Amino acid sequence: MISFILNEKLVSTSNNPGMSLLDFIRYEANLPGAKIGCREGDCGACTVLIGEINDGIMAYRSVTSCLFPLINAHGKHVVTIEGINLNNKLTPVQQAIADNAATQCGFCTPGFVMSFTGFCISSKEPSTQKAIEAVAGNICRCTGYKSIERAAKDIAKAVQNKDLNDPINWLIQHGFLPKYFTEIPERLKQIQPQTISEKKPDKIIAGGTDLMVQQPDSIYRQKIESAFNINLPHEIIISNCTCTISGATTVNDLLKNDKLLSRFPELDNYLMLVSSEPIRNMATIAGNLINASPIGDLSVMLLALNAQLTIINGDKTRQIPLNKLFTGYKQLAIEHEELIQLITFELPKSNATFNFEKVSKRKHLDIASVNTAMLIEIDNGIITKFRLSAGGVAPFPLYLEKTSKYIAGKHLDKGTIAKAFELIDEEISPISDIRGTAEYKRLLLKQLFKAHLQKVVGDEFYKLI
Ligand SMILES: Cc1cc2nc3c(=O)[nH]c(=O)nc-3n(C[C@H](O)[C@H](O)[C@H](O)COP(=O)(O)OP(=O)(O)OC[C@H]3O[C@@H](n4cnc5c(N)ncnc54)[C@H](O)[C@@H]3O)c2cc1C
Ligand code: FES
Ligand code: FES
Repeated sequence: MISFILNEKLVSTSNNPGMSLLDFIRYEANLPGAKIGCREGDCGACTVLIGEINDGIMAYRSVTSCLFPLINAHGKHVVTIEGINLNNKLTPVQQAIADNAATQCGFCTPGFVMSFTGFCISSKEPSTQKAIEAVAGNICRCTGYKSIERAAKDIAKAVQNKDLNDPINWLIQHGFLPKYFTEIPERLKQIQPQTISEKKPDKIIAGGTDLMVQQPDSIYRQKIESAFNINLPHEIIISNCTCTISGATTVNDLLKNDKLLSRFPELDNYLMLVSSEPIRNMATIAGNLINASPIGDLSVMLLALNAQLTIINGDKTRQIPLNKLFTGYKQLAIEHEELIQLITFELPKSNATFNFEKVSKRKHLDIASVNTAMLIEIDNGIITKFRLSAGGVAPFPLYLEKTSKYIAGKHLDKGTIAKAFELIDEEISPISDIRGTAEYKRLLLKQLFKAHLQKVVGDEFYKLI
């Protein structure tokens, strides 16, 4: 049985674990507020909030319910638009939308309201910009975004004085949430953790943001197990020089980890280029690696960081460099029953620069035409370490081994850069597709390589090309 609290009500269901939460909400629970738009995580019309107790604190995040497998709802609080509307009057979020004429046909509006409400609950330093970022995964086809931006400004203002120590109670007192939210933590504790079946699952699912898009019908029928239920510690461990991330860590877990951000000054900017708030709230790092998309952003970043994978299969454990995981288009050096438990990499030293560049047709909620990451260490003018990776230029995320080996040990000068361009050209094999011609992608990677180097030497770089 899968048990969770849906708005105010405890539900237990034996429905298929791979059913989408959206279908459950609309067709089993008869709550039609969450809308069916794209069913691919792109439009945000189906956005709901998921609440769970993290380190003793009740936390809520927005997710697209069309991609959220029912099994992942177990033990959680699922909040739909109906669940914030128990006061019989508009919440300040809804009022801001009405006051600013930020809705017309209304189809997208429940999704916007839920994303904004998620922002009101979870934001630590609420600002108009952050409110707008919270709805980056919501599309409106008819209103126009300026009025939605004005609503975002009002919403950010309304939570300026939120009590950060007890946000839920503050939001209840100010009419954002109904009173029943105070009882949720105690009620969630009554739900027994899910037992893991002894039978081998057909498929492991994590966030579902790849599987629920690519194979929704077979996932619905298969016996699936959640990566969050099995033996995958959900943590980010930072020691002096290494970082270890569990496979089930989400992109937003990384974004919220201050320790990690302090070691990668621009990591938040890079991660904000990955999908949108509700997708980042679901998408895991291991899922990104195993999906083996040639343009997977996390795969490209972790290749440059020379990440090592700890892979488990029952009692057996083995380790492989990420560089050896990808063997061909969607081909991996990992067996069906093996799991990525941990991802470990060395943290950049003080003389190192890590940089990530991504070019896509639009800045947010788009996958890359070409993406690339670089790690460089320079000592007394000599490049002591160099790693370059790229996506969109080969059948899988590529570590440019020859180029990287060549540059390490050299001075950063005109000759080195000219030879590196030649080697990049030799190592890549882009194809023409809707994201650009092969020639364009070749040119793009070389331009992005220049952008990497510019990050290291600033405008001096122009003297080197
Ligand atoms: C709207 C949208 C936008 C997106 N934008 C981006 C983007 O900008 N950049 C980007 O890189 N990606 C993007 N993605 C792709 C996706 O979000 C990522 O690849 C994500 O990291 C996948 O993780 P998941 O947990 O959702 O994977 P799932 O779909 O749950 O699983 C993917 C695969 O990984 C396997 N798996 C999961 N966990 C493990 C484990 N621990 N061990 C072994 N196998 C495992 C599953 O069996 C499955 O084969 C986007 C997706 C959507 C829907
Ligand atoms: S229906 Fe479009 S994101 Fe879910
Ligand atoms: S109000 Fe019509 S789609 Fe947004």
